[in-house]
Amino acid sequence: MGMKSRYLWMDGGLVEYEKATLHFLTPGLHYGIGVFEGIRCYRTPAGPAVFRLREHAERLVNSAKILGFRSLPFSTDDVAHAIKQTVAANEFDECYIRPLIYLSGGGWNLNIDGGQPAFGVAVWEWTNYLGTDALHHGVRANISSFTRHHPNVMMTKAKISGNYVNSFLAKTESVRLGFEEAIMLDPEGYVAECTGENLFVVARGTIVTPDLAPVLDGITRDAVATLARDLEYEVEVAPLSRDQLYGADEVFVCGTASEVIGLREIDFRTIGTGSTGPVTRRIQEAFQAVIRGRHARSEKWLEYVGAGEVEPPETASQVA
Ligand SMILES: Cc1ncc(COP(=O)(O)O)c(C=O)c1O
Repeated sequence: MGMKSRYLWMDGGLVEYEKATLHFLTPGLHYGIGVFEGIRCYRTPAGPAVFRLREHAERLVNSAKILGFRSLPFSTDDVAHAIKQTVAANEFDECYIRPLIYLSGGGWNLNIDGGQPAFGVAVWEWTNYLGTDALHHGVRANISSFTRHHPNVMMTKAKISGNYVNSFLAKTESVRLGFEEAIMLDPEGYVAECTGENLFVVARGTIVTPDLAPVLDGITRDAVATLARDLEYEVEVAPLSRDQLYGADEVFVCGTASEVIGLREIDFRTIGTGSTGPVTRRIQEAFQAVIRGRHARSEKWLEYVGAGEVEPPETASQVA
């Protein structure tokens, strides 16, 4: 995967890729004290457009608040501005965007109040997260032997770097076992989410997704539920047990990195017809139309990276 770009945003301005480095004694690296976002920018007939930029910038700042940072030296607007500047400076018309607020100094006594946050943004050209076949044929998953976070142990509404240790444990195990994704159960034993995606079940024409309590409030989850209701499907939030997945007509997962992907097999049980099901396909099509600027919802959900608002790297304004 090529993660190279010309510029990253760090400490208030654009810096060249080779210079975007940190010291070994960065406490965020030692303790997982950071919050991040995964965002996508898509090629559209009107130029590159970031999908739901405002919601992602808001969730990033909210994640920092949930983690305990009491004040940040930059606002949601500054985050959105830095993201657009970074995409534009790299002249990518399609890319993945990774903003990160991390503990850059202090906090060695495990008290966030003694530490300082810093902010950066990376962008890279990343097309397929779960592989090229996944979109059409779906992927194989298993129920992980690792439990998803209890909401009073880790903060599940925040995209905290340390939360992803749990995702790494699960995903590594599943891939070593020969699956492509891990489904994680909550501490009660009900279906929660995957390592980087929310999950939906289609049964008898109704679409069901687990309650938000133990999972990330996914922006794609919200988009999918809205698009499904536009298509006149009933969308319910309800507890799901693993055997409801085995017996479902369709199961699909969604997230910024993977977009909308069917699960064709779970724990060696074929789901539905063993490929991407018809409801999943309709939602995939609606989602593709939105991100390509061809849907009634595109206008509200796409933020265009207009060349006019972009400053050259040398004079980029300082935000943090
Ligand atoms: C654990 C987890 N759940 C769900 C999601 C999906 O969230 P979103 O659609 O906002 O990318 C992600 C990805 O960000 C995730 O990491």
